Amino acid sequence: MSTNSTRAPFPGHPGAARRVSDLLPVFPWDKLEPYKATALAHPGGLCDFSVGTPVDPVPELIQKALAAATDTPGYPTVWGPVELREAIAGWLHRRCGAEIGPQAVLPTVGSKELVAWLPTQLGLGPGDQVAYPRLAYPTYEVGARLCGAEPVEYGSVDELDGSRVRLLWVNSPSNPTGRVLGKDELRRTVAWAREHGALLVSDECYLELGWSAEPVSVLHPDVCGAGHEGLLAVHSLSKRSNLAGYRASFVAGDPVVVRELLEVRKHGGLIVPAPVQAATIAALSDDAHVAEQRERYAARRSALRAALEAYGFRVEHSEASLYLWATQDRPCWETVAELAGLGILVAPGDFYGPAGERFVRVAFTATDERVAAAVERLDAAR
Ligand SMILES: Cc1ncc(COP(=O)(O)O)c(C=O)c1O
Repeated sequence: MSTNSTRAPFPGHPGAARRVSDLLPVFPWDKLEPYKATALAHPGGLCDFSVGTPVDPVPELIQKALAAATDTPGYPTVWGPVELREAIAGWLHRRCGAEIGPQAVLPTVGSKELVAWLPTQLGLGPGDQVAYPRLAYPTYEVGARLCGAEPVEYGSVDELDGSRVRLLWVNSPSNPTGRVLGKDELRRTVAWAREHGALLVSDECYLELGWSAEPVSVLHPDVCGAGHEGLLAVHSLSKRSNLAGYRASFVAGDPVVVRELLEVRKHGGLIVPAPVQAATIAALSDDAHVAEQRERYAARRSALRAALEAYGFRVEHSEASLYLWATQDRPCWETVAELAGLGILVAPGDFYGPAGERFVRVAFTATDERVAAAVERLDAAR
């Protein structure tokens, strides 16, 4: 008879044979906590530019669509109603120039869940490589680790081993740098991926937030040619429509891969709630609220950029997205500490890979009032 002293630890308890959290990196934001405490103690309060979370209201037409769909007692489907898939395909056509039908799109429960679980859902595992840009959103690495694949960073695809990479992430506009990949670079990356049979997945959640460059989708025919074989584009309404709280997003592209994901996700119950499906249709059918939100961000971006540059920062890339990628040419944690002393919290560049260790990422997703407060503090401290 087993006793407590010989019994194996429960799954999920420390010492269990395989604990998934042991495979994962330390959740980076925990490391920022002491600096947040310093910044919070500033008499003028915290100016939090450390995360790219929207702070402006959900546009009214979207709230109304959500509210009108609250009486939905039955299960929604993973694929969603055809109206939703047509709204997604229509948006992809209108905003991305993609020739795509409603059979090649799939709603997701926020794009982070897709990024984290896509390699698993596609059956990748030990021996496979998942490649992502040298400076990148940390969840690409997490997705590789969750399925036991090998995470690999790249500067250029030419550095990669085409026989091992099964999934290749691109992210334009980039988090954290705001860099935009041009058509030529995207075309070359598509050609490399197709030559090696690697699925190219393009995370395009900042596509409608170009400032000094026009972001282009991997699904645009100038980039991918006539078809979408071997390609997926990942999109999110979190940033364009202030819908981070709704978890509204989708993936689109190679119809065979989309169909496979649908099958797997049906079994997994990865369903967007019906009211959010309705809100997504309303959000994708309207561009006016996106233009309005862009204006708010443009003003915040130029005010912060000018103040940071006057203070002594150099801003690199940042031609799109919700971030300024800034450096004082010294270790990022020194900059984080210095700005925390002014009550300003930013993300250290090394959260996004060692190549970011002399940069900080400044998200201009705070209110006008908080941006103005930070500008004033930076000016006064010069
Ligand atoms: C590059 C990138 N991809 C995906 C996401 C996830 O977005 P969501 O899960 O809100 O759709 C983010 C969020 O910041 C991001 O920066």
